[in-house]
Amino acid sequence: MVRKIALILLLVVVTCSFASAQKRLGNETAAQKKQRMEWWTDARFGMFIHWGLYSQAARHEWVKHNEHLTNAEYQKYFDQFNPDHFDPKKWAREAKAAGMKYAVLTTKHHEGFCLFDSKYTDYKAPNTHAKRDLVKEYVDAFRAEGMKVGFYYSLLDWHHPDYTMDDAHPLVQVDTSKANYDRLNKGRDMAKYRQYMRNQITELLTKYGKIDVLWLDWSWDKGAKKGKGENDWGSVELLKLVRKLQPGIIVNNRLGLTEYADGADFVTPEQVSTKELEPYKGKVWETCQTFSGSWGYYRDENSWKTHRQLLDLLITSVSNGGNLILNVGPTARGEFDYRATNALDSLSYWMHANNKAIYNCTYAPAEFKTPDNTKLTYNPQTKRLYIHIYNYPADGKLILPAYHGKIKYAQFLNDYSELKYAPASNGTDVELTLPKNKPHYEIPVVELTLQ
Ligand code: GLC
Repeated sequence: MVRKIALILLLVVVTCSFASAQKRLGNETAAQKKQRMEWWTDARFGMFIHWGLYSQAARHEWVKHNEHLTNAEYQKYFDQFNPDHFDPKKWAREAKAAGMKYAVLTTKHHEGFCLFDSKYTDYKAPNTHAKRDLVKEYVDAFRAEGMKVGFYYSLLDWHHPDYTMDDAHPLVQVDTSKANYDRLNKGRDMAKYRQYMRNQITELLTKYGKIDVLWLDWSWDKGAKKGKGENDWGSVELLKLVRKLQPGIIVNNRLGLTEYADGADFVTPEQVSTKELEPYKGKVWETCQTFSGSWGYYRDENSWKTHRQLLDLLITSVSNGGNLILNVGPTARGEFDYRATNALDSLSYWMHANNKAIYNCTYAPAEFKTPDNTKLTYNPQTKRLYIHIYNYPADGKLILPAYHGKIKYAQFLNDYSELKYAPASNGTDVELTLPKNKPHYEIPVVELTLQ
């Protein structure tokens, strides 16, 4: 009897969780989704751009929160904002040269300031010394370079008078008592703020032509004492609206719609190490990463990633079947600073020679073991396998474990120079002979045409 009840209970639990995982907002088939996502999975590499009033403080895009600033204290950044070097055509050229295929710009970050001309707020770029819609110029510039265009939009808003308190809000850091929340929430109405977001997202998705990606940020109600999530944002209705306005758009996973099979198009591991990317294999994902620690321009930050670290992020993302979106935080004058430009230049040098090992690529078929000190990527259409050589062998020998009989041709990708190979003495491995001098790339790539 007890066993029977336990079995029934188990069945109920399994059925319920299955049913909830299957909750759906729309009726797109897996094949249709694959097709909608195709340009994005093929692209593999994008540029994130975090730019706003915080770029002037130049000490983190969370400065308003970190320093518990009131709207009045933060106002100086609005009054001062004057990006006289803003030239998105230059941004677009740099992004394209670095091999990025799409970009995502913060149309509004947590601070609430809008780079676009919204009729629902005065807190926007056209009312600053910039005197114009900066999002429009960004869209035009990136599109002209043939890049896909995305919008980041913060669900949080530390400026809006109806946005209620939560544990990330700049005003509640010191006194987290209920009495203080009640005091600060007087007159605030999340329903009105929800409508404000719907209005603004409608503007963003109707006034700028086809928008390819929408990156909404973020939900943290699960586990947090006073976070916000799905219900606060009205996520179900919001996502339906987004899909109605832009049926082809690709949306990230931060609306908090975890019980819906189609509540997001991709997951967003943020600032994780390359090791932590391995478990994402098989999912649809994009890791977002900074050049240094923060997203907004941070003048005094010295933790800039090296060229090798950036390449490793890109290669490891692709070798686990995901995308990398790498962030630039332009300065308050509207330019990429020299450290970002240097990093992008190095990437463009490498990508020019090696991008075939990135675009349209994914992880290698299971039968191909990863040779020592390398990582593999693979293009399923062309059946080319790419070996990214992390440590160039001093003796010029690279052992390809159990590759015998599987290779038709081998060459360096950067110059298409032939590489000779022969069966190793064990009869199953292949020994590839590399030249003494390492090609002039931090991580050179061997291209194998497979049988
Ligand atoms: C976090 C931060 C935010 C940044 C985002 C990018 O959610 O709050 O500042 O924009 O990550 O992934």
